Amino acid sequence: MASHAFIHTKARFEKPAEYPERFPVPDHLVSWGSEYPEYAPPYYVSPVVIKNDSSANPAGWADPEDVSLLSEMPQQSFAGVLVHDAEGRALNPIGRTGIAGRGLLGKWGPNYAADPIITCINHGDHTVEMLAVQRKDNGQWAIPGGMVDKGEEITKTLTRELMEETGVRLDMGSGSLIYRGYVDDPRNTDHAWMETTAKHLHLDPETARRLDLVAGSDARAVRWFKLTPESVSQLYASHCALVKATLEELCREGKACVTKEEREIVERLLQRL
Ligand code: BGC
Repeated sequence: MASHAFIHTKARFEKPAEYPERFPVPDHLVSWGSEYPEYAPPYYVSPVVIKNDSSANPAGWADPEDVSLLSEMPQQSFAGVLVHDAEGRALNPIGRTGIAGRGLLGKWGPNYAADPIITCINHGDHTVEMLAVQRKDNGQWAIPGGMVDKGEEITKTLTRELMEETGVRLDMGSGSLIYRGYVDDPRNTDHAWMETTAKHLHLDPETARRLDLVAGSDARAVRWFKLTPESVSQLYASHCALVKATLEELCREGKACVTKEEREIVERLLQRL
């Protein structure tokens, strides 16, 4: 899942309902390096972001709307060294999105999330399952991820989000790193975008069965979600790509956490994805 090997699509063709229409950005004009003199994206910042402006509201989670009040604009992110526009705002590392401003995202530049991916094999029907939540905001099934709190160490976020959203306490510090970088998210704009760190733990069936699942406040439901070509393709945001990368990692030779039989089940699923 390389971050620069693709041009974003959700960030150009999808948007939350409250955003204005995105200015059209054809594939060959995504890159900031391509001349596009007609480019005039609408500016949008959500009222909820303004309400949480930390320069006016000490409990707020958002940066000030006035960039000159920022102590520092980020110079780099997981996507690499960032380029800035004439007003000093960091530019989306993949390119144009058709919307200026921060939209629903609180931070100028990268907004960091963390995605804990927990899998197990169902030996009854020979399927791969993942701990997933059904999101309250759009009803889609998703990895139980969330935003990194200010100054929080990412392993802590992974462990905390897993606990808050599913009721499961596992130490994500021992998980394997699946992905770290830009996410093609429908909320992204030219000046604010999502990046995530995804870590994975594979559980043996005994441990998986013993877990008590409790849906957290952002979740309508939580369950062991059966991975099939259809269910994986309908996962939230870029979670389909994260799950595929996880399954590939599980099939790698020498993974002690998977038995030979389990690896064959994962390989059969991967061939169908
Ligand atoms: C979600 C993560 C997701 C990220 C990027 C966050 O709001 O909680 O699961 O990976 O957005 O789409």
